[in-house]
Amino acid sequence: MNDPRIIIALDFPDAKQALDLTAKLDPASCRVKVGKELFTAAGPQLVEKLMDNGFEVFLDLKFHDIPSTVAGACKAAAGLGVWMMNIHALGGRKMLTAAREAVPVGNTRLIAVTLLTSMGSEDMNEIGLKGDPQDVVQRLALLARDCGLDGVVASALEAPMLRKMMGESFCLVTPGIRPADVSQGDQKRVTSPCQAIENGADYLVIGRPVTQAEDPVGMLRRLNEEIGELKDGQGLSA
Ligand code: C5P
Repeated sequence: MNDPRIIIALDFPDAKQALDLTAKLDPASCRVKVGKELFTAAGPQLVEKLMDNGFEVFLDLKFHDIPSTVAGACKAAAGLGVWMMNIHALGGRKMLTAAREAVPVGNTRLIAVTLLTSMGSEDMNEIGLKGDPQDVVQRLALLARDCGLDGVVASALEAPMLRKMMGESFCLVTPGIRPADVSQGDQKRVTSPCQAIENGADYLVIGRPVTQAEDPVGMLRRLNEEIGELKDGQGLSA
């Protein structure tokens, strides 16, 4: 089955802009991510519309609340039939376990956010997370696996370490991806698409480099070609 590795972050303020962009894209060449901004503005109807249009959807709402509230939210999200969804590992063991129970292993992949890729060491220290980002990410990823989650969102810079620790079947989704000639924006820990794949990422979340490109379709094609060549050349399995 076709398993596109690029997930386009539809970080738009309304459904129209998201639908205008996706109308140009082929669901065989990417998946799409609906995050807090778009979901708050356009709701589950848009998620259903995107799925009707053939796209597999990663619902990126990063739930983080008391266990029963997160369990209910996860059940509702999985009920929409999304391909992937996430919760915040910082919610702790009870919350992660409740979420897993609400979304049994199956069609919807349930993954955890470890540390946002916009957080540097100073930002972490300021909120009381001591140590370097790698240690925090490692601890949260182990906790997520222990609670039965399917994978984590993490910076591609942490992917080699996570791949080694977690084994081949643990899903690694990496945002903070920037082609060499595109602005870094507010992301602090960035990696090129090829480097992310080489580092062991399964899926790459890419937003502005594609959505703000003059030619989004051309940019997506270029990125798919880059990682496709890598895949062929290096005999990667997926
Ligand atoms: O535009 P850009 O490529 O920076 O978009 C990255 C996307 O990945 C955004 O939608 C952001 O919310 C999301 N994300 C992230 N870091 C995480 C988890 C998700 O940047 N740790």
